[in-house]
Amino acid sequence: MGQTLTEKILSDHLVEGDLTPGEEIGIEIDQVLMQDTTGTMVWLQFEALDLDEAQTELAAQYCDHQTYQFDFKNTDDHRFLRSAAGTYGAHFSRPGNGICHNVHKENFAAPGKTLLGSDSHTPTPGGLGQLAIGAGGLDIAVAMGGGAYYVEMPEVVNVRLEGELPEWSSAKDVILEMLRRETVKGGVGKVFEYTGPGAESLTVPERTTITNMGTELGATSSLFETDEKTKDYLERQGRGDEYIELTADDDAEYADEIVIDLGDLEPLIACPSMPDNVVPVREVAGEKVEQVLVGSCTNGGYEDVLPAAKMVKDQEVAKHLEMIVAPGSKQAGEMLAREGWTAEMMAAGVNVSEATCGPCIGIGHVPASDSVSLRTFNRNFEGRSGIEEDNVYLCSPQVAAAAALKGEIVDPRDLADELGLDAPGVELPDKYNGSKTDLIYAEDAIDDELIKGPNIGEVPLQDPLGSHISGETLLKMEDNITTDHIIPATSDILKFRSNIERLSDFTLSRVDETFAQRAKDAGTGVLVAGENYGQGSSREHAAMCPMYLGIEAVLAQSFARIHKANLFNFGIVPLAIDEETYAKIEQGDDVEIVDDVAEAVESGQEEFTIRVNDDWEATANLHASERERRILTAGGKLPLTKQQAEGG
Ligand code: F3S
Repeated sequence: MGQTLTEKILSDHLVEGDLTPGEEIGIEIDQVLMQDTTGTMVWLQFEALDLDEAQTELAAQYCDHQTYQFDFKNTDDHRFLRSAAGTYGAHFSRPGNGICHNVHKENFAAPGKTLLGSDSHTPTPGGLGQLAIGAGGLDIAVAMGGGAYYVEMPEVVNVRLEGELPEWSSAKDVILEMLRRETVKGGVGKVFEYTGPGAESLTVPERTTITNMGTELGATSSLFETDEKTKDYLERQGRGDEYIELTADDDAEYADEIVIDLGDLEPLIACPSMPDNVVPVREVAGEKVEQVLVGSCTNGGYEDVLPAAKMVKDQEVAKHLEMIVAPGSKQAGEMLAREGWTAEMMAAGVNVSEATCGPCIGIGHVPASDSVSLRTFNRNFEGRSGIEEDNVYLCSPQVAAAAALKGEIVDPRDLADELGLDAPGVELPDKYNGSKTDLIYAEDAIDDELIKGPNIGEVPLQDPLGSHISGETLLKMEDNITTDHIIPATSDILKFRSNIERLSDFTLSRVDETFAQRAKDAGTGVLVAGENYGQGSSREHAAMCPMYLGIEAVLAQSFARIHKANLFNFGIVPLAIDEETYAKIEQGDDVEIVDDVAEAVESGQEEFTIRVNDDWEATANLHASERERRILTAGGKLPLTKQQAEGG
């Protein structure tokens, strides 16, 4: 039987397991990338592992999320990251140089390679045939040290694209159509492989818009086969020698198939406040808009901004509205400036910003209260823009520029008739000639030792799992607690991401402001939660901080997949309880695990007995692979990896 492209790349990198969907596999990682707010902890953990040098073919550290540096702690973080990259052999990209996924695509993404990144939109270079996956920071540190990355073998789904995009429709509409059909949960445990004549018709930047936003489907990754278009893109980036041809076998068997005729797609828009809340633009036309933002890792490329620039040239942005363009990379920004497009946009009333994630996570350009913001970004979760109860719509650059000119949401086809606009199409430059001088390549490093300002803390370590766990139920929570509830990502807290001692003061503060102090006073304890505990981002701080505060076990009706992996990684025992037990336990109750915990975990025992208030007992279950049990027993992945490196 033939193989899918995903299976081919995984086979080439497989170090453990077989390719049975749902089973855990271990794969070798060729490249790693880190962004600034997760990268500090990656390097502190890399240091704690006593490793000398990155072992992957390539490691790259980017500064992109918190580029405005309005607190010295941000600047200290960036300096620490530069010093860590230099010390351990990674490339470094300084603030203002661009968003990790954009800069990585331009400089390093390579077909057939595996990439692991400490950011959920790491799958972006799937548009160039690279198998790229987002993960927690400790997984990145271990992979960078030469260890395998473990993931559940995904199901591979074929997305067959027929036809060609009509004028005024774009790659963004392809992924919005996927979200409309499949929802934000439709990709869990899956890789989407895009094939067919429609896929061949798309340029690489269009393909990466689609693979980038596969993350919103919950997918493990998304991939395109490589072809002349891939080769052409790499050649224009000056990296033609990195091209290889990669296709699925003709007789490859997919778990499922989705067919989209590109010719049927009209301009689409995701309404507040979920990326899958998608409707045709014409259905919400007429809604007054006060802010338009073009940029992000989804639509911040030269090829994304150019259509918007062409549309606003010789026109005027509506007076009651602000239009901001933040290119995804300095390469894109510099080329647009050299070609005169920046001046044209400015003349039309556009505010042209530095290359940054910034507003995508509510840092800068926060919308006014009770107003509509139209963005070419990938997420519109409530509050992400920096203000609660926001109204953020997601759309293509063409739809965004049309709204900026009209002052309200408008189907760009209608505006084209009104203003006599030509469809801008997608145009690649002859050569991507933007400066690359802001990259400090590993071989040109200017640091050879770590520079730690006062805010750069230590990595907390946990002792090996003991035989006895008991403590107070410090907090009883509802269903669907997110990693944002556990460790908020607002800019006043984000600056402590490299300082767990300080960051832990904010643990679960959105649920109960007294929690961190009570946990410190108690010294140990357990958490109780309903369904889907820890959903949301991959941030490992949401497990690390509770560990730091002495939490030894979380008893929940169910756990979100990545957060559960992070609980293992930081030595916290995740126990599943049933509805009745959940209902019966109260905050403040004393909980004791009756079994010898270390022995039970090691021996593969699944059922544990918990005794509550010395009064009643219930069963709790540990669902864990052998590898996860080894991690728990050692007190977490970091101590286990250290032991293994020392031959223990
Ligand atoms: Fe940055 Fe937003 Fe992408 S935070 S990495 S632009 S999703």
